[in-house]
Amino acid sequence: AKAATAPPTSHTTFSDIAFAFDSIDGVLYQGNRGIPGAREMLRAIHAHGIRYVFLTNGGGAHENAKVQSLARRLGMGDNEDALSGRVIVSHTPMRGWADSVKEQTVLITGSHPETARQIANEYGFKRAVTPADLIHANDKLYPFDNLKGSVHSQFRPLPDGKSATSIQDAYSANIPENALRVDKILVWNDPRDWSLDIQVIHDLLVSHRGYLGTVSSKNGDASLPNRGWQQDGQPELWISNLDLFWKTDYPVNRFGTGAFVEALRGVWSAVTDGTAELQFHALGKPSRFTYEYAHERLLHDYGDTGSVNAQQRHQHQREGTKHPLRRVYMIGDNPDSDIAGANGFKPEDGTEWKSILVKTGVWRAGTEPSHRPDVVVDDVVDGIVWALRNEG
Ligand code: G3P
Ligand code: MG
Repeated sequence: AKAATAPPTSHTTFSDIAFAFDSIDGVLYQGNRGIPGAREMLRAIHAHGIRYVFLTNGGGAHENAKVQSLARRLGMGDNEDALSGRVIVSHTPMRGWADSVKEQTVLITGSHPETARQIANEYGFKRAVTPADLIHANDKLYPFDNLKGSVHSQFRPLPDGKSATSIQDAYSANIPENALRVDKILVWNDPRDWSLDIQVIHDLLVSHRGYLGTVSSKNGDASLPNRGWQQDGQPELWISNLDLFWKTDYPVNRFGTGAFVEALRGVWSAVTDGTAELQFHALGKPSRFTYEYAHERLLHDYGDTGSVNAQQRHQHQREGTKHPLRRVYMIGDNPDSDIAGANGFKPEDGTEWKSILVKTGVWRAGTEPSHRPDVVVDDVVDGIVWALRNEG
């Protein structure tokens, strides 16, 4: 009912403003229920040619799968132009990584490793390995096999005929030619078997130059800065989402990928006797990479008529034409990710990003948010109304 009064009037154009919606529970829906009025509001801003993306820290699923779940929860069609082609998940910016990186061997961890591998292949990564591949390639690697037939049941042979069993002596400098070397570790979302993933990530971070099953001779060398930890050509660690919590329809906030990262940090601190902090690169909100990626997507979007369909929009994106923006409104529920990221993001083209915090998600109304938004509103519908009024 609220939405009926809210959509912009037909003679108004908003060609140089855009929205970035946080799209998982807490903003557009809660549990399986869409926020009342959200669907109508999305259709209205779409009809007015306003540009927007859905910017979620969720991961481990394909962007199109997220569109489908969003459509189901909002009661919309999954190929409705108001939804399709607009979702950016935590690892989507990796689509844009250089071809040379996509030739590297990457270990991908996440909730559904086989799905993650398929998505990585679609992004162009040619040598994606999962923890399941490793335990099936070497049954000594992990002492517990009770999840081997369930969580880790899907696996593939290691790329290029590499082996996970060829190393006899972890400390020897003689690395067999067929030993598996991992160049990057990509944590895409929260694993279902934290224990195995922490073990395997640890093993690679202490390895000699990323060779699985080895230990760097530099690790623990008291004469080196940080005693050599993560300083011997070990793989870079990339984490796609640092959210400690997220909102489901359970009354207490649930652990997100950030909780897994804290566990990994804790183990790493114990392993390194507290002398070295875990080093990693982060993607996802609030990281600048993610906001830059979303901003570029919005600039390449075609937003000034509303009569443009998804296919034309994609063509426009391929052609690389940019349409300047004046202001982008980020509507989110998490002060530590959505709001912190939007507040800190100052794109070089001078576009202003504003932050809108809703009361329907992670943040508990009445408490002081860790990062202050430009405005607090009841829900996403009120957020859109506030933004459009702000534009006069
Ligand atoms: O695990 C998903 C969670 O972190 C939610 O992210 O950004 O969609 O609220 P977001
Ligand atoms: Mg959220």
